[in-house]
Amino acid sequence: MIKVAGISGSLRNRSLNSGLLRAATRLAPKGLSIEIIPIIDLPMFNQDLENSGQTRFPEVVQIFRDHLASADALLFTIPENNWSVSAAIKNAFDWASRGPSPLDGKPAAIMGAGGRGGTFKAQLHFRQIASHNDIRIMPVPEIGLSNAESSFNESSDLEDSAIAEQIQAFLSAFDKWIQDHQNKHDPT
Ligand SMILES: Cc1cc2nc3c(=O)[nH]c(=O)nc-3n(C[C@H](O)[C@H](O)[C@H](O)COP(=O)(O)O)c2cc1C
Repeated sequence: MIKVAGISGSLRNRSLNSGLLRAATRLAPKGLSIEIIPIIDLPMFNQDLENSGQTRFPEVVQIFRDHLASADALLFTIPENNWSVSAAIKNAFDWASRGPSPLDGKPAAIMGAGGRGGTFKAQLHFRQIASHNDIRIMPVPEIGLSNAESSFNESSDLEDSAIAEQIQAFLSAFDKWIQDHQNKHDPT
């Protein structure tokens, strides 16, 4: 079983991106399991909080990093805020990026749901940020849902069979992307 850590970059209750991530957990192919890792309790990154206690990171940060470390791959759903990624996902990334980082060299994929631009500016920024830790983000296919509100119900659950099919195809490609990565690094 391939273990994927799923992270939504939105903190709000009725987030479309969290709904998109929940849909992905249901639509994942056999053999790929996506566990949602919440980031809402992470403090704002402050280097003074490093090495401040008995362990290097605050406990909530350490737990988050341990989840990432135990995953084979990462799936991010990110909103677009002011043509870039949300502060929440950047904050989570900053905590996770501190070396030795559980992000280093991991295969990953991004999806997004949002306003008019379909989150593609945010996704491009995220690819740039993620290259810092050599994260191997799947280049294609892409999922960026523009004006996505009508595809989700009032609990922000996906209710659109065409998009569900897109997500299934995306996750099958992601499954292959992860396996190709694993075969390259451990061909035995
Ligand atoms: C501060 C802020 C900035 C935003 N900037 C953009 C933007 O640059 N491009 C865009 O397409 N949508 C933008 N939006 C709309 C959000 O992408 C949209 O509300 C989305 O649903 C938020 O994600 P969520 O539903 O997962 O919380 C912005 C929303 C907020 C609150």
